[in-house]
Amino acid sequence: QQQGAAAPEPEETTMEVDSLPLETRCPPFPLRQYKGFWIPELTLRRGVPGFRSRFTPRPTDIILASFPKSGTTWLKALAFATLRRAAHPPSFADHPLRRANPHDIVRFVETDFARAESADELGDDLEALPSPRLLATHLPHSLLPQRVRAMCKIVSVSREPKDALVSWWNFVRKAAPAFGGDAAAFTFEEAFDLFCDGRCVYGPAWMYTLDYSEAGRRRPGNVLFLRYEKMLLQPRDELKRLAEFMECGFSVKEEQRGVVDDVVELCSFDKLKNMEVNRNGTGKGKLPVENADFFRKGVAGDWRNHMTPEMAQRLDKIVQDALQGSGFSF
Ligand code: A3P
Repeated sequence: QQQGAAAPEPEETTMEVDSLPLETRCPPFPLRQYKGFWIPELTLRRGVPGFRSRFTPRPTDIILASFPKSGTTWLKALAFATLRRAAHPPSFADHPLRRANPHDIVRFVETDFARAESADELGDDLEALPSPRLLATHLPHSLLPQRVRAMCKIVSVSREPKDALVSWWNFVRKAAPAFGGDAAAFTFEEAFDLFCDGRCVYGPAWMYTLDYSEAGRRRPGNVLFLRYEKMLLQPRDELKRLAEFMECGFSVKEEQRGVVDDVVELCSFDKLKNMEVNRNGTGKGKLPVENADFFRKGVAGDWRNHMTPEMAQRLDKIVQDALQGSGFSF
């Protein structure tokens, strides 16, 4: 520590969750508002404390961070296929992504801690993973453990909020029964009003995105900020940026051999969606969700099929007002 520098704020490893504002209208989980974000209650009770006290970060760790329904599944697939291409060439018929859903290959640290039988067991389990570890989180940057922010490489993907909302609403209605909830009656209008108020899992969506975009601006070597829409438009270029950031850039020879195209193709929406494991499998991880639920349309602009122009204007205005002066826009 530098002379005169303030000591870092001590991190809470146990939380007074019961006293935090509660939101129960966003299926499938009860949410609590913590430091400006609506976080699943179980994540606050067990996930964040486990992440902070039992996770030992390594400088080689790569953490994939995303607001839910913003391209997490895709980013997991791309990062894994790129990082492990020496052991698993993307053109191979028995590539792990052809046998397992990306969420079963790259795990969410806080979700695993939240749902683990014991945090100690999971801590040891994570310790046993070989470097470089590829892990994921839905936590906002400001809520990640300080050592993770300081030490690890973080890749974040963000998505235009109206499309993230539409994707969330569709997903929740399909996935809620797996968590024991009933979201059949959750109308889009209800989801919209809650979302506009910042009330959804890890919301407000725009503050979450701002959190990572600012972290990326402050520390470009530590945080790579990707956008779902740009990935759709320029998948090769964005994949090459991702590879460079992970310190495993593609060589000229690899590009000539078509390895970049192979990764893009393997991880494309149509390829992943139509794999048997993603059509008929159920998550083996901690989320009891059908793999198929992670693949719906995979396009930009589907909000037009769900919102009136007035609704879109209302949400756009909320987002613009909240981001005013930040230098960031969607
Ligand atoms: P839609 O519901 O708009 O189709 P997440 O992975 O964060 O849960 O996000 C899910 C969204 O990403 C869904 O959006 C899903 O269809 C889309 N998606 C999943 N895999 C994709 C891929 N390989 N390429 C592009 N989009 C993908």
